[in-house]
Amino acid sequence: MKHLISMTDLTHDEIIELLDMAEDLKEKRLRGKVTDLLKNKSLGMIFEKSSTRTRVSFEVAMSDLGGHSLYLNYRDLQIGRGEPISDTARVLSGYVAGITARVNNHDTVMDLAEHATIPVINALSDLEHPCQILADFLTIREYKTHLKDLKFTWVGDGNNVCNSLILGCALVGMKISVACPKGYEPNADIIDQGRKLGGDITITHDPIEAATNADVLYTDVWVSMGDEEERDKRIRDLKIYQINEDLVSVAQHDAIVMHCLPAHRGEEITAAVIEGPHSVIFDQAENRLHAQKALLIKLMA
Ligand code: CP
Ligand code: NVA
Repeated sequence: MKHLISMTDLTHDEIIELLDMAEDLKEKRLRGKVTDLLKNKSLGMIFEKSSTRTRVSFEVAMSDLGGHSLYLNYRDLQIGRGEPISDTARVLSGYVAGITARVNNHDTVMDLAEHATIPVINALSDLEHPCQILADFLTIREYKTHLKDLKFTWVGDGNNVCNSLILGCALVGMKISVACPKGYEPNADIIDQGRKLGGDITITHDPIEAATNADVLYTDVWVSMGDEEERDKRIRDLKIYQINEDLVSVAQHDAIVMHCLPAHRGEEITAAVIEGPHSVIFDQAENRLHAQKALLIKLMA
């Protein structure tokens, strides 16, 4: 693995290795043990869209690892005035040891990876969000002890996070059911790729069917960054694709509820479920830090 642009840049064994490393790093942080494996290394973090978790967890990860991070707002870079991504990639490669990029268009992060001579990490694009999935799998393993053969259910918009989860589930052997309205299905090429990887992938329009006996229930916003103009239509179309107490009641009695955050209470999930006994959402958010530390070490140390 040189870059992490898609979940498919990782093999099953690499995912497990990263989760093991993350678990170890989490435990060391808790004990106050120093893990400065990226001393004197810098990470350039390009952001074309907003972020709370991704930005802060990468910054703290670099600082915990003894390195340094630079927040690079797209608008303030010369890219914003038309400098090619390819030149930016080559120039940054001379300064920093790795780049993370959150971009509107997946091609931008592919372009960066093609022209950089250092590792590039996709920090969310319109197509995928692989860093999120590493934290998600770490969280699932903490609560369920394993990943293989669990029933994972996605409820809502078949978006970037859902795409990466489909690929991730295929790689680790989790069954995934996606419940979404017609027209909101995950990317067709991603579903194909997932099936070619051996994934057990079900796409349905029935949230109850998908959630029945699920070990994990997961949702994300109905209106992703970039979809704001479709807001009213999306709220109407996705109305029944909500994780609420009724839906949770058809899942396994010990099912966990996940959300990558930010959440819109009363839309894709209710406040009662977020605060309820099945929710692991804030542990999941914390795990972004530990999973990304493992990733940074693997790519940059
Ligand atoms: N889940 C996630 O990526 O959150 P941010 O948009 O706050 O980074
Ligand atoms: N699907 C959401 C995820 C945010 C972390 C978005 O792209 O806005």
